[in-house]
Parts: sequence; structure tokens; C-alpha cells
Amino acid sequence: MDKILVRGGRPLSGSVKISGSKNSALPILAATLLTKEPCVISRVPDLSDIHYMLTILSQLGCEVERASGTVTIKAEKIVTEAPYEIVRKMRASVCVLGPLLGREKEATVSLPGGCIIGDRPIDLHLRGFEALGAAVLVHAGNVKVLAPELRGTTISLRGKFGSTVLGTDNVMMAAVLAEGTTVIDGAAEEPEVVDLANFLIAMGAKIEGAGTRRILIEGVKELHGAEHEVIPDRIEAGTFLAAAAICGEGVTLHRVHPADLKAVTDPLIQAGFVIESNGNQMTLRPGATRKPLKIDAYPYPGFPPDMQAQMCALLATTDGISVVTDNVFPQRFMHVAELKRMGANIELQGQTAVIHGVERLSGAPVMASDLRASAALVLAGLQAEGTTEINRVYHIDRGYESIDEKLNMLGADIERVKV
Ligand code: UD1
Repeated sequence: MDKILVRGGRPLSGSVKISGSKNSALPILAATLLTKEPCVISRVPDLSDIHYMLTILSQLGCEVERASGTVTIKAEKIVTEAPYEIVRKMRASVCVLGPLLGREKEATVSLPGGCIIGDRPIDLHLRGFEALGAAVLVHAGNVKVLAPELRGTTISLRGKFGSTVLGTDNVMMAAVLAEGTTVIDGAAEEPEVVDLANFLIAMGAKIEGAGTRRILIEGVKELHGAEHEVIPDRIEAGTFLAAAAICGEGVTLHRVHPADLKAVTDPLIQAGFVIESNGNQMTLRPGATRKPLKIDAYPYPGFPPDMQAQMCALLATTDGISVVTDNVFPQRFMHVAELKRMGANIELQGQTAVIHGVERLSGAPVMASDLRASAALVLAGLQAEGTTEINRVYHIDRGYESIDEKLNMLGADIERVKV
């Protein structure tokens, strides 16, 4: 198991290329199950979660070829049961359920494991499948969905914490091959849902309203092969903006969609940083002052819950009192205990972190607990005095393509050590 050593205190400057979005690529790769014809997906990031998804697709019978960032998939003959050994490693495996149900009218997948960020149910996905006419059976750790036929209907996917991203993806992928019209109310509005819808449309699906709370899908008989380029990863971009805010002297991100990042850039500007966007690039520079923030994470277009931990790392050394609330994953605060071990002064009050900015953090051995928490620890290490040793870095490799190399190119001093 690798660990990462971050020697803090190095200023960051220069430019970095943002990779394709993990959260877009995962459901898009799963959507290739909907056709027998080959699909070509480009700008697929090289991440362990992507590797798991490609392994699942191979085991379902797909022919998978990968040449750097481009993946070609042909799902000519497939089976409908995803094997537990791989599925258990990644929660997003659940998004093969929708396309398998859509095409074969049945699917069996192990109930998802994945991040330890609280209880992560899939009741809304299953509610959507049932509304389309599927029976849902949960037995021996597996969930099986099957339907003699799928019929379009109106489905609400609004849950206690708002919309569901993968639930919207899953129901959309099943409904594209259903008989008649499906309306998804309370749909997730995330740019990754729009990206998936655009790929499905390129395959011949009829979808309107992706990116709004109401998505309308008119079922078609079959889909065909298509090519698609995955959108830039707004969470990777946001993480580099946070790094640039923490210790940057001017950092430019290439290949970003600035509009998708507004919920992250607005508070950074409010905190005093200067951000300029020009087409698909964006530069962050330090401003004259650095102010504390009040951040509330909500589904898109709100502040992304996937950026909450990284903002805690930035605010840990911002003078004054900052308040960060996660309204989507109330238990996602494992990074707080680790940041405190590095000298941060943070009080956890339920789903809210009250952060009293300290002058500096000090390097310490810390434990990565989930993907975004591990990114927060790297960011904390960049500004800490001394060396931060981050263990269990497999979490970070799930979602950040070469984060150590990219940060080193900007001037950081990060070493990956094989243990
Ligand atoms: C996706 C992202 C993840 C991000 C999250 C929220 C992928 C691969 N992952 O996860 O990085 O943090 O969106 O932006 O795209 N919920 C239910 N019942 C359900 C489904 C969800 O109660 O059936 C709850 C969840 O526990 C959570 C909230 O709804 O509190 C949002 O979860 P959801 O949007 O489904 O997250 P994912 O799609 O799994």
C-alpha cells in the first residue's frame, strides 16, 4: 500500500491540465451496455474507480479496449449479473443496474459498498425502477431487478437530502428503452447528468431537460454506437483551486468549464482571491486579504459536497471563524479529526464544522478515510510546517489522476513511497 509524503511550505505556481470527470465517465461507461454496437469514449481519466468499472464491464461480457484516455467498448453479448468481488470495491458499480434493466429487462448487482461516508442507500434508484414496472428483490447481499417490460411514467427522485445523482443516471438509462414517456421529477441537475444525457442522445435516445429538475424521456426501440468526450472534472479543478488558494502565487487551470465551477469560485472570490476565466482556462491569484467563509454544501447548483473537505483544509489557516455545513452527507467529516492532529482548531457540531483559523498547521502522520478527505489532507500538508505522511492513499487514487505529479509540476514537494 503506497503512502504519500508531503513536505510543506512550497509555493505553487504555473499551470495544470484538468482530467476528464470521474463522475461523468463512470455512468457513461456503464451506458455503453445499452447497445450492441461499439462506443468510443475519450478523456477517460486513469483512476482505480475507472479500472473497476472497466473490469465489471469485461466480466459482463463487453469487449473493452483502452488506449491512453480513449476507451472502446462493444457490448454485443452480455450477461446480467455483476460479480461481487469487483462490485463491492466501488459504490458507483450500482450504475450498471439501469442500462442492464433497460436492455435485458433484468439485472443483479451486489448491494454497494464504497466510501465510508455514512449510510448510502439506493432506495431512490429502486423506487425509480419499480415505477417503470420492475420488481425489486433483495437477497443474500444482492439486489435483483426484473421486468417483463418497462413502461414510462412520472417518477419523483426527491429524497430526504435532495436529488440523487447516480439515481437520476440509473433511472434515465433504464427509461431510454422503456415503452412511452418517462418524466423524472426532482432530478439531479449536476453537469455530469447532462454529460450522460448528451451521450445517450448521441446513441439515439430522446431526452429533454437534463440539467433541470424535470427530465423528459421518450423511450426508443434501440440505441446505436456513438463517440463521446467526457467533460472536465469540476471536483479535481476545485481541488486545484483550493491548493492554489492555500499556497499559490498564481496558478492556471487548463481544460475547465468555468460555468460548472461557479459555486466554488464565488466563495473563493468572497474570501478575497482573484479569479480570472478565459474560455476553458481559469487563473487564481492571492488577493490583498483572506477572509473566513460560511459554506453550505447542497446538490448542484449549490456548493458541491465533494469540495467540502478541501475547503475545510483551506479555512483551517484562514484567520477568523468559518462555518462549513454538509447538507448532503451529514456524516462526511472524517477529515476533521485528522486536520486537528495537524493543529487545526475545528469543532464539529452535527453536520457543521466550526473552524477557528490558526496561523499554521504542522506535519503529522495522518490516515486517509475517503476520497475527498484524502485530498483535504494533501492540501493541509502543502501548507503545514514539516512533513505530512498520508497513509491509505488508495482512496486518493480512486479519484485523482496523478495528483502528486501534477502538484509537483506546480512546485510542491510530494513523494509517493511504496510500503
Ligand atoms: C454522486 C457522486 C459523489 C457525490 C454525490 C453528491 C458519482 C460516482 N458520485 O454520488 O461523488 O458526492 O453524487 O454530489 O457520481 N440518497 C438516498 N437514497 C438513494 C440515493 C441517495 O437517500 O437512493 C442520499 C444519499 O445518502 C445522500 C444524497 O441522497 O445523502 C445524495 O446522494 P447521491 O446524489 O445519490 O450520491 P451519488 O450519486 O451516490
